[in-house]
Amino acid sequence: MSRISRLIFLFILLPLCAPGETADNAIARATAALEAATPRAQADPAHPIFHVASPAQWMNDPNGPIFYKGYYHLFYQLHPFSDGDGPKHWGHVRSRDLVKWKPLPIALAPSTEAGEAGVWSGCCTVNGRGEPMIFYTSVSQGKSAFDHAEQWAAIGDGDLIHWTKSPANPVLSEALHGSTKIYDWRDPFIFHDGKKTFLVAGGHLAKQGQAAVNIYEATNAELTKWTYRGVLFQLPDNMPTAECPNFFKLGNQWVLFVSPYGHVQYFIGDFDPATCRFRPRTGGTLDYGSFYAPNTLQAPDGRRLVWGWINGFPGGQGWNGCLSLPRLLDISRDGQLLQKPAPQLTQLRGKPVQWKNLRLENDGAILPLPNTNTLEILAEFDFETANGIELTVKSGAREARPIVVNYHGSELSVMDVKAPLPLAAKDGKLNLRIFIDRSVLEVFANETVCLTKVISPLDDHAVLELRAFGGPATAKRIQAWPMKTIW
Ligand code: FRU
Repeated sequence: MSRISRLIFLFILLPLCAPGETADNAIARATAALEAATPRAQADPAHPIFHVASPAQWMNDPNGPIFYKGYYHLFYQLHPFSDGDGPKHWGHVRSRDLVKWKPLPIALAPSTEAGEAGVWSGCCTVNGRGEPMIFYTSVSQGKSAFDHAEQWAAIGDGDLIHWTKSPANPVLSEALHGSTKIYDWRDPFIFHDGKKTFLVAGGHLAKQGQAAVNIYEATNAELTKWTYRGVLFQLPDNMPTAECPNFFKLGNQWVLFVSPYGHVQYFIGDFDPATCRFRPRTGGTLDYGSFYAPNTLQAPDGRRLVWGWINGFPGGQGWNGCLSLPRLLDISRDGQLLQKPAPQLTQLRGKPVQWKNLRLENDGAILPLPNTNTLEILAEFDFETANGIELTVKSGAREARPIVVNYHGSELSVMDVKAPLPLAAKDGKLNLRIFIDRSVLEVFANETVCLTKVISPLDDHAVLELRAFGGPATAKRIQAWPMKTIW
């Protein structure tokens, strides 16, 4: 086909055949729409540069992270036709080192000819025949996802670029549940225990309430046949649903993540593969800000990484949404989830500015930052007799709202968002890592509290202001780096 006739095909014919379209045609049409929107989105000075994001348009949950044949692959929910929510596709990026990423072609689109309206969140794995497989929630045309959903699979080529929907679809259907009705049944996540392969999916057992993570066991190596093993875990009553469950072993404990419309929750405890039940001992909040629907990956060294969807951007910018930085997970001695930025991210740092042992009083030290609005700031405080500290990042221009991080009375606040953070009484130390990526802010405090926010971008002449309250404190170490792009 000539270039002109290809364009005519893409822009005139394909939109007309959308209702009964194959997934391949839908991908071509979606790609054209995404490409057309890209120059404007990329030119927007608020678009983040060191967080994974779609080149343009709406995106939400990270999907199917997997390390495969030397690459980290990440997929994400994408609506390629606008910067608002709409029928979901799967966008795709990959990286050799978690530092530099490359956008890849759209991986999945709805097969409207088979009645699909959207390809929702899910996971990626390799089946017992060595075939890469995506599992996702297929939502049907003309039906509400609240009442009806199916779990579908697609088989990937050797590079995970081209995907073909499985002839066995739906690989899991509501019939598996017998007389049990599950509402908002969605977001398959696969894990292995010994020789067994399990899948968890979220939902709720009552029309309103009884949020539950359901568990299934594969009965063939192709992972096209499954049995329902019941409810892995029923959420506390204050959580209306269990979106995007992730269930995995970390050290010798089991961890469950759920997205219950509000802040993402974690639970840590034991899993009995015989009964398929999970008993949590501890739990908490993954992130107190705008971070949702995280998905995890086991790196080749066995460590577990997580990405979440950062949401809450203003509309009408030609893009909306990005993923959090990759966070490395661990568990503290007292059963709390620890999260720190993946160590590889230090490769994005440019030349630092730094200070040591600054004595802080109430009147505030002012430190110039590198001339950019993509920054990492590291700050280590020793409280001495102070009972609070405040760190402010201020633009040179007056309009941009300053970023104010305040620690006072066992509470961390980042602008208008608060999180409990008790400091160990004996050492009274606070370590902050703050990432500012144009309109995105991620704060890690003592590896136990994370807080993500959408901000208005700083200008290139920001300064750091530090002060202590109730007595002196020492800033043992302050460092700031300009951050490079991941693309
Ligand atoms: C979470 C979620 C998932 C669903 C997807 C649709 O943000 O609602 O439960 O699969 O988004 O895009």
